[in-house]
Amino acid sequence: MTTGKPRGLWITGNWKMNHGPLATKAFFQDIKSTWRSCAGLHSVLFIPSISLSAGVEYVRAAGLECSIGAQNIHWEPSGAFTGELSAPLLKEIGIDWALVGHSERRQFFGETNESAGKRTLAALKANMQVMLCIGETKAERQAEKTFEVLKAQLDGGLLQDCAPYLDGRLLLAYEPVWAIGTGLTASPDQAEEAHKNIRDYLWKRFGIEAAGRTPILYGGSVTPQNAKEIFSKPNVDGGLIGGASLKTDSFLALRMIGESVV
Ligand code: PGA
Repeated sequence: MTTGKPRGLWITGNWKMNHGPLATKAFFQDIKSTWRSCAGLHSVLFIPSISLSAGVEYVRAAGLECSIGAQNIHWEPSGAFTGELSAPLLKEIGIDWALVGHSERRQFFGETNESAGKRTLAALKANMQVMLCIGETKAERQAEKTFEVLKAQLDGGLLQDCAPYLDGRLLLAYEPVWAIGTGLTASPDQAEEAHKNIRDYLWKRFGIEAAGRTPILYGGSVTPQNAKEIFSKPNVDGGLIGGASLKTDSFLALRMIGESVV
């Protein structure tokens, strides 16, 4: 393994509201014969709640080194929170990863930096790994407010009590909202600039260890065509991939690119 990617290289997927249990089974059955393990290459797939059990079962049956994660998590362990899932419920079926603060949750379901902070801390405290998503809208970038917005999202999303967990258990996904599902990708330099800024933030607030150990992934219209240049940037530790993670051939192609970069 080269030393170019000290935090490894992460090829992760967000299936959003796609792939029920049957499609989940078909995905893993299809992918297992061509899946290759590689030192330093990590994968997590954030899949719909209804498919989580099937995902865990089929990943285990296929012997794949791929984690399955929930697309959200509530901060309370149980209670009157219709439609939500908690750490104990997820862990009961073998899920120990959660996505938090995705821009679609913020945009369509009213989630805030504050709720992202509560979700993130509760999951970390429950010994789960978290991918916290942040990113600016097109209007915010045009108004040159990108770093102000990212700072506010990090101030709210990472409560101070997260500090002991910032040893690789928390991952950040920088996903410019204008790049998600639009076919418009941030240029490799735009991604690197944002990631460097985020890492500097971590350094200033949580110290050099936390900054050095936290993987920061890029998300927003990543495809096998544009991934290599983005993933090659020093502060980009991989990708959170939506559309291109739904099909086995493009997900495997992205893993092969990961293999060539790590
Ligand atoms: P996309 O989605 O790759 O389809 O743009 C990324 C995401 O929303 O995580």
